Amino acid sequence: MCGIIGYIGKEKSKPVLINGLKALEYRGYDSAGIAIPTNNKVEVRKSVGQVKVLEKSLANGNDFNGHLGIGHTRWATHGSPSEANAHPHRDCLGRVFVVHNGIIENYKELKGYLQNQGHNFLSETDTEVVPHLIENFLNSGKDFDTALFDTLKMIKGAYALAIIDAKNPEILYAAKLSSPLVIGVGSGENFLASDPSALVGKTKDVIYLNDGEIAKIKQNNISITNLEKQETPFEIVRLEWDLEQAQKGDFPHFMLKEIFEGPEVVRSAFRGRIKSEENLVKLGGLEQVANELKQVKRLLILACGTSYYAGLVGEYLFEEIAKLPTEVHFASEFCYRNEPFDKGTAVIAISQSGETADTLSAIQKSKKHGLMTIGIVNTVGSTIARETEAGVYNHAGPEIGVASTKAFLSQLTILAMMAIYLSKDKSSTKVLLEELEKIPEKIKIILTQSAKLEKLAEKYKDYENFLFVGRRYNYPVALEGALKLKEISYIHAEGYGAGEMKHGPIAMISQNFPTMAIVPQNSVSEKMFSNLEEIKARKGPIFAIATEGDEKILELANDIFYIPKTIELFEPLLTVVPLQLLAYYIGTKRGFDVDKPRNLAKSVTVE
Ligand code: G6P
Repeated sequence: MCGIIGYIGKEKSKPVLINGLKALEYRGYDSAGIAIPTNNKVEVRKSVGQVKVLEKSLANGNDFNGHLGIGHTRWATHGSPSEANAHPHRDCLGRVFVVHNGIIENYKELKGYLQNQGHNFLSETDTEVVPHLIENFLNSGKDFDTALFDTLKMIKGAYALAIIDAKNPEILYAAKLSSPLVIGVGSGENFLASDPSALVGKTKDVIYLNDGEIAKIKQNNISITNLEKQETPFEIVRLEWDLEQAQKGDFPHFMLKEIFEGPEVVRSAFRGRIKSEENLVKLGGLEQVANELKQVKRLLILACGTSYYAGLVGEYLFEEIAKLPTEVHFASEFCYRNEPFDKGTAVIAISQSGETADTLSAIQKSKKHGLMTIGIVNTVGSTIARETEAGVYNHAGPEIGVASTKAFLSQLTILAMMAIYLSKDKSSTKVLLEELEKIPEKIKIILTQSAKLEKLAEKYKDYENFLFVGRRYNYPVALEGALKLKEISYIHAEGYGAGEMKHGPIAMISQNFPTMAIVPQNSVSEKMFSNLEEIKARKGPIFAIATEGDEKILELANDIFYIPKTIELFEPLLTVVPLQLLAYYIGTKRGFDVDKPRNLAKSVTVE
């Protein structure tokens, strides 16, 4: 969703801001803008659409020459995507300039109050109240810092703010509450961003701002205080990600690159954490809660989107391997549940970005009820990683493609390791760990056959509806396969447990309604075959993901993609890969920008 970039330092800020905005594009946005103090005036430029439109409009002229600046990519919430609604927003006199991520919940009251005071608003956004409120306090004789602090105390909701005072272009102001903001520490220059990936190639040293903190960032100095103006100590953290990981390399899209990173991502998730020869899973991030975890009687997995589907696979894994009753909830629905909480329950929150607002508030609710919270998070230092008591990082590297692919594989790997870690009966641990170590090579075998999927995508790309079916471990994979297809190809696709097909979806089956069947040879394949017979009898085309060597499927399916054999519990790590590739090829063949699907955002920071 919305992205923030800020700069102060030795370079001219314009190119730094534009490059930062480009790095934030993957989050999803519909307009962009920058503000740069130049010769006693703050220059502002905004545009609807892509950052390159903004960049082009700034190509000529010397009017954006300052060394301080703020920039923003906006994903419309209040008001349509338009230049007027794009950030930065300003006060009446052109002294205060603001970019904002989050939502100001009491903006209507504040706006009414400010309008009564004579303030003139130019947009429909909630954000615009911020510069006007600051101006209002300045008008009453307060200095800038006090005006800013008093403004923040009046705002309800969530914010990450970057602010410029035209009268003091030596300072970049930042403030945070429930919306991520990170300061990049450079030499003779400092940066600000809503997401560390915007800083890649600029600096690896960052400070994560905490809720209620305000930063005054100068070229060679950073100070952070709380809302009571007391200085708060900060820690500079070193980022592990490098420039290459955040670039496409030879791949046409991030999504394809990230699917091809699958083998490495699975390996990175288990590297140093499993020792099959010693029957051992070692999860350093859980060490501090290890004793408490041993007492846990029930698990609750909370997540959104693809992470939720990984959680559904986790449910089967925890019950099968660790014998722990497990439930999975959409984080966005969890807040409405009034179930009686038991202290013997531990919450596992799964999030690639570590910033998803729904997941974050589900964690906060769990903590209020005294439940232990554990994170499975990819983004180091993100809010969810910091909010949870303990956790396991994915180490999958930045995921830029909006449709999550490699994170899913990584999440499945960690869930499998956690289930083994929590299991009291270690008799099958060795077999499981040995097989997990083989998974990367098996994924590679699938990837080497991507051309077959590309060809099949040509055949299937013009259908407007798809049914995805699977059973047991592959039921969540059916859901995830359908999600991938609709996210990037805009084809209507539904995922179902194959057993449920007869209770409704079968009514849709015809020669124009193909089924993607996830049917590897396992404990449920016979039942799957019966379901496929029912589809075949109704002339529905069938595309099957099956185990190599399976001949029976030849009689049922119109097209087959074979995957290597693995144990049933780990099948999702293989079966999802062809579905990701198929969605990718269908999306690109239909002519869509699969890295930036319409209406979707990578990091969803509103509830
Ligand atoms: C958005 C993204 C999805 C992602 C979901 C959850 O909808 O587009 O790809 O699965 O958020 O995100 P998280 O970062 O919490 O895993």
